[in-house]
Amino acid sequence: MPDFLCTAAARQKVQIAPSLLSADFTRLREDLERLEGEADLYHLDIMDGHFVPNISYGPGIVKQIRKLSDKPLDAHLMVSEPERWISPFLDAGADLISFHLEATPHPHRLIQQIKAVGCRAGLAINPGTSELLLEPLLEELDLVLVMSVNPGFGGQSYLPLAEKKLARLRRLASEQDLPFALEVDGGIKRTTIGAATRAGARIFVAGSAVFAADDPAAEIRELKKLALSSAAEYV
Ligand code: DX5
Ligand code: ZN
Repeated sequence: MPDFLCTAAARQKVQIAPSLLSADFTRLREDLERLEGEADLYHLDIMDGHFVPNISYGPGIVKQIRKLSDKPLDAHLMVSEPERWISPFLDAGADLISFHLEATPHPHRLIQQIKAVGCRAGLAINPGTSELLLEPLLEELDLVLVMSVNPGFGGQSYLPLAEKKLARLRRLASEQDLPFALEVDGGIKRTTIGAATRAGARIFVAGSAVFAADDPAAEIRELKKLALSSAAEYV
C-alpha cells in the first residue's frame, strides 16, 4: 500500500474518508463498490456505549470490511480503555488506529504500542479538549483527528470551534516540521468543508453527506473539488 499519510505529498493531498457508520450494513458490498473509485480511505467508527453514548461495531465487522476493499482502513476508537482494543483491530486489518486522548491516562505509551506493531497511530480530541494538550505527543503521531462534533452519532452539525484547533496544529506542524496528517471528523459537507480546509485539515471524514447523496461517488468528487479550491486559497 502506498504511503497514504506521512509523506510531504500525502500531507498536502486532500483525502476524503467516508464514514461507514452511515452505510447500509445490509448491503455493504454494494455501498463500498459505489465508492471504491473515489474514496481515499474508509473511516471506521468504533463505539463502545461507554466512552460515547452509542454502540456501533467491533473487530469482527472490520475483518469483513477488510475483505471487501484494499483501501486504507482508518479505525477511530471511541472506546474506554483503548489499550485493550489495539490488537483486535490490528488483527482485523486496520491500517491506522486513532484513539481518544480523553480515554486513557497513558497516551504516549499507547502510541508506542501501536507503532511497535507496524500500524499508524492517530490521536483524537473531543470538541471540549484543547489541542495544546497534544503538544508533547505531536512528534510521535502519524495523525491528529480533530472532532468537529461530540462523538457518538453521525449526522450532527459541524462545530466551527474545530477550526482554531486545526489552524494551531497546522502552524505547529509547519513550524516544527512535524509529519503528522490532520483529519477533521463530524458534520463535514459541502457547506463546511471549505472552512475546515482553510483552517488546515486535509483528511475529511464524511458520513451522512456521502451516504445520503443519490450518487455518493459524485458527492465525494464534489467535496474534494470544494476542498481543493479552498486549499489553493490557503497556501
Ligand atoms: C461521530 C463519528 C463520525 C461521524 C461522521 O462520532 O466519529 O465519524 O460518523 O458522520 P457525519 O459526517 O454524518 O457527521
Ligand atoms: Zn469518526
